[in-house]
Amino acid sequence: MPVSKVAIVTGANKGLGYALVKELCENFNGTVYLTSRDEERGRCACESLNQLNLHPVYYQLDIVNYQNISKFCSFIKNKDQRVDILINNAGILFLKDAKEPRDFQAEQTILVNFTALVTFTEAMLPYIVNGGKIVNISSSSGHLSRIPSEKLRKQISSPNLTLNKLKELMNDYVEAVKQGKDIEEGWGDSPYVVSKVGVNAYTFMLQRRLADRKIAVNCVHPGYVISDMTRGSGSVTPEQAAKVVAKLALEPERGGLYVWHNGDIVPWDGPDPRAYIDGKKLA
Ligand SMILES: NC(=O)c1ccc[n+]([C@@H]2O[C@H](COP(=O)([O-])OP(=O)(O)OC[C@H]3O[C@@H](n4cnc5c(N)ncnc54)[C@H](OP(=O)(O)O)[C@@H]3O)[C@@H](O)[C@H]2O)c1
Repeated sequence: MPVSKVAIVTGANKGLGYALVKELCENFNGTVYLTSRDEERGRCACESLNQLNLHPVYYQLDIVNYQNISKFCSFIKNKDQRVDILINNAGILFLKDAKEPRDFQAEQTILVNFTALVTFTEAMLPYIVNGGKIVNISSSSGHLSRIPSEKLRKQISSPNLTLNKLKELMNDYVEAVKQGKDIEEGWGDSPYVVSKVGVNAYTFMLQRRLADRKIAVNCVHPGYVISDMTRGSGSVTPEQAAKVVAKLALEPERGGLYVWHNGDIVPWDGPDPRAYIDGKKLA
């Protein structure tokens, strides 16, 4: 018999991931794994939480490294643990002034934010309990309306979309950037947008796939979070953002939801919520 409940957070040495581990240590009755790609940064984060009398368990996990993923899965298996909550938080963003070539930015962003998230989640699926919860940290950038091409939007949001087809579309995007055809083909100008739209498409597909196991798979826009990713700008602290995300992990209304930072459930294929919720003037 598994000994205790388990929650896992990726990319948890800082920012939102760290705040999520803190929130779960305070509100989840079980073992919370703080994972990070860099062991020293991760252990340091655990120590800070220990100072608050919170005790996550550390595990080194670079989600782009398949050996790391396999090792972690074997570890969970050998301990006979079953996972109640998986929060896919690790992510990257190249800001507008980034000097790296566009094709490198596209390749890396799709690799970390989409491909690695999918690979890790698929590897974890056998260890997730029936009735478990998966939360994918998306963004306002994951809203379907952010992809200019109607044809692409239809393909990405098709209820018949398979995982292979979604991976193919993400590869098509990277190839389009390499050939300088991404704008012409209607992908827009942001690898981050494409990666997070991919995350949302995966979320809804996985929800359909796991319905018989009663696993709730949801995605969330955590808000404009003050973190290293935004170079310290933003409108909410990681702790504030973590509350909405943790609620979705601990007691989701149901699966297949895209939740905005204020807790509203938003239609993925509806109007852009940055306008009607955040009052942002869109170009
Ligand atoms: N900040 C915002 O305004 C905002 C808005 C919407 C969505 N989000 C999303 O929220 C999530 C957390 O972002 P944040 O703002 O907290 O950013 P952050 O402070 O930059 O944290 C990102 C975390 O992801 C980790 N990471 C990156 N690549 C990884 C890999 N290959 N394997 C494992 N971990 C990896 C980073 O590790 P290192 O420290 O080793 O780099 C770091 O721990 C991301 O998915 C982001 O896209 C953020």
